[in-house]
Amino acid sequence: MNSELMDRVKKSPLPTHVALIMDGNGRWARARGLPRTEGHRQGALAAERIVRFVGQERLFPYLTLFAFSTENWSRPPEEVSLLFDLLEGFVREKGRELVESGVRLRVLGDIRALPKGLQKVIEEYEAKTEGNLGLTLAVALNFGGRWAVLQGVRRAMALAERRLLTPEDLHEEDFRKLLPTWDIPDPDLIVRTGGEQRLSNFFLWESAYAELYFTPTLWPDFTEQGLLAALADFQGRRRNFGRVTP
Ligand code: IPE
Ligand code: IPE
Ligand code: MG
Repeated sequence: MNSELMDRVKKSPLPTHVALIMDGNGRWARARGLPRTEGHRQGALAAERIVRFVGQERLFPYLTLFAFSTENWSRPPEEVSLLFDLLEGFVREKGRELVESGVRLRVLGDIRALPKGLQKVIEEYEAKTEGNLGLTLAVALNFGGRWAVLQGVRRAMALAERRLLTPEDLHEEDFRKLLPTWDIPDPDLIVRTGGEQRLSNFFLWESAYAELYFTPTLWPDFTEQGLLAALADFQGRRRNFGRVTP
């Protein structure tokens, strides 16, 4: 750990919410002549390290991990089911640590389509950690930015049907409360590993003013140091939010 970088990062304003698009597991494995699944196993370990680090150092209060997109269903079924097994193991094995370290788990995505065992551990640990006041760890799982916006639209339509909302009453702030991310502030920083420079249907509404950071590092190789480098880069950005700043 480069403590000089840590000290520097801790001296400047930190983001409130950092979201990580964990990409590059397959390429990590291929480069070593290993099956893609091994990349995912190593990727799960990288995720554990990062969660522990952010929780312990209290760098920021909200962390989102993009773990499985609505488009990832088009992968081979064996890969999809291994990903779900790893996620179930992650929640089950990390669960106790999450409870004890004050982490609040929130899963973002359509969990009804997931295997029953995975749904059960998610529900169990969301309930057990509900009152925790430490890091909020959001896991975007079977999540798509378009799905999320559509959820908001569906809820708005249902309210309108019950005459609780009219089109004129629906302002941005009201709509935001109808989204799956209603209790999570918009991300200040979105980091994508693996070198691709796109959002791949991640946060669409929420990313309106996020700073984007892309690194070629493949997810299994992403370390605490890599996160600190992204934070240092973020701290050097000028966020205008449409204003003129001197
Ligand atoms: C990210 O790594 C993990 C998920 C999308 C679940 P990939 O599996 O996309 O790895 P690459 O992009 O093929 O290297
Ligand atoms: C984005 O990675 C989704 C997650 C990290 C969960 P992908 O590997 O699925 O993205 P594309 O297909 O390269 O856009
Ligand atoms: Mg990928």
